[in-house]
Amino acid sequence: MSQSINLEPKTDSLFKRACQVIPGGVNSPVRAFGSVGGTPVYMTAGHGARLTTADGRSLLDFCGSWGPLILGHAHPRVVEAVHRAAAKGLTFGACTPAEVEFAELLCGLVPSMEKVRLVNSGTEAVMSAIRLARGFTGRTKILKFDGCYHGHADYLLVSAGSGLLTGGITSSAGVPASAVAEVLVAPYNDATAVESILAAQGAELAAIIVEPIAGNMGLVPPQPGFLATLRKAATACGALLIFDEVITGFRLAPTTVGTLWNIQPDLTCLGKIIGGGMPMGAFGGRAEVMDRLAPLGPVYQAGTLSGNPVAIAAGLATLQTLIAENPYPTLERRGKHLAETFANLAICRNGSTHCTQLGGLFTLFFGAPPIRNLAEAKQCDTRQYARFFHHMLNRGIYLPPSQFEVCFISAAHTDEDLAQFLSAVLDF
Ligand SMILES: Cc1ncc(COP(=O)(O)O)c(C=O)c1O
Repeated sequence: MSQSINLEPKTDSLFKRACQVIPGGVNSPVRAFGSVGGTPVYMTAGHGARLTTADGRSLLDFCGSWGPLILGHAHPRVVEAVHRAAAKGLTFGACTPAEVEFAELLCGLVPSMEKVRLVNSGTEAVMSAIRLARGFTGRTKILKFDGCYHGHADYLLVSAGSGLLTGGITSSAGVPASAVAEVLVAPYNDATAVESILAAQGAELAAIIVEPIAGNMGLVPPQPGFLATLRKAATACGALLIFDEVITGFRLAPTTVGTLWNIQPDLTCLGKIIGGGMPMGAFGGRAEVMDRLAPLGPVYQAGTLSGNPVAIAAGLATLQTLIAENPYPTLERRGKHLAETFANLAICRNGSTHCTQLGGLFTLFFGAPPIRNLAEAKQCDTRQYARFFHHMLNRGIYLPPSQFEVCFISAAHTDEDLAQFLSAVLDF
């Protein structure tokens, strides 16, 4: 179902207007087409696996709003739950029965989370978890990994991935040196580096934070034993281990990667899928740690819209649907089929293109050997990715506009959709 390039006057004029009133024309830098060139596409609707653009094109979507839409766009059960909740009131700023049900469900599905607190974004979840780790341990230093992105809090904009990689920004202006002075950085998948950092500074460390499967330098799975080393190292030095599962939570199973792989972090951060497309984040962990939060403990954390009833309705409907319909084996089957087909494609035969895949997550890396860390990811041929992105867009397929992002297969994609995707890849 090839579509010819339409130079989209509507998109161009929208973008011109946007640039007058919105910095760079976008409300989040990853939406700009900075690294692939061209003008961002404006969307007016999404149903199932497809987006409709302002110019009336239908695009097969593998960006999935960057992760929340595991059920696809406008899943009827989610939309109905949102309608019902909205009709009863958009926010009360008070406790609701639904937030209790939602927290019980999350804690039941993620046993390392004895208690959980709801927030409005992944960034907020991580910021709050780090403050809690610092309050709990009485220490200030944090160890993070090169290329892992944990939201845009000042002190986490050190060696952060995706949006910052795409923009060529290694850190951000406006972040005081004092904010990042407490953040140590190790290469992802480098257990030896972690051990030597901890030998020198372990006693000052409040937390080790990691994406258990890295998703912000493209999809980079952990090497065998890496996460177990982090667990052991954190326990040995008295720091908390924080798994940032904003992308991976409920992505590979109706639980977290920590639960699935039986590595228990002290705290887990969630976002994206748990909000079902509405703004939502959460962080949770051992009761002993979580009970240091206000109002029980001295670590302050709050939010006017936290536990918003409409977002909870979307999140609950999403998680309940995932549990009832169990799309995970199908996502894994489709993801695996994509990865295997890539491996056999002509573009892969010279060994310069690789696909990483887990469940419905995948990244096609151009011009680099299999990637284990940020230094290797940076060897990718981003110009070839840009050409690939536009080739796919011309064929009616919407991908993340950056080499350093993950593509998402949703439960709404069909085998025919994947065949369309693969046929477009074959023609590249
Ligand atoms: C692993 C990870 N953590 C945190 C965040 C921040 O989440 P949000 O954009 O909802 O603030 C992201 C966003 O993509 C992410 O991928």
